[in-house]
Amino acid sequence: MDNKKLIDDLNEDLAGELQAIIQYLQHSFMIMGLKRLPISDLLEEVAKDEMKHAEILAERIVAMGGVPTVKPRPIKQTATIKEMLELDLAAEKGALEDYAKRIKQAEEAGEVGTSLIIENILVDEQGHWDSFTKLLREQQ
Ligand SMILES: [Fe+2]
Ligand SMILES: [Fe+2]
Repeated sequence: MDNKKLIDDLNEDLAGELQAIIQYLQHSFMIMGLKRLPISDLLEEVAKDEMKHAEILAERIVAMGGVPTVKPRPIKQTATIKEMLELDLAAEKGALEDYAKRIKQAEEAGEVGTSLIIENILVDEQGHWDSFTKLLREQQ
């Protein structure tokens, strides 16, 4: 596995983080009604975690000789809280799958530090997945 492929894939991950930042913030702004405060605050907090992930990935990409992307993956908008949380949960599921692959890929490329950095990000994503899952379960 060459470094170029790993840099490109880390940039794909970064595009996912940029999507999550914008999407979760937009959802937090759009939540109305009695559930507004706790859910919009949680989404804002998760968006801040995603910003830390974006920063970590971008710093790593530059250090490896790449240029960090400024293009997010497509941002998903919707009208109801339930649909917002479903879209956000889907984004977390995708992140968990991508990072699981990336950990192996970085190890195979001899990038042990990168692999460990991504493991830490994956732990955060698992926490986000758990939060969104619990919110959706309570609402059924
Ligand atoms: Fe993230
Ligand atoms: Fe996340």
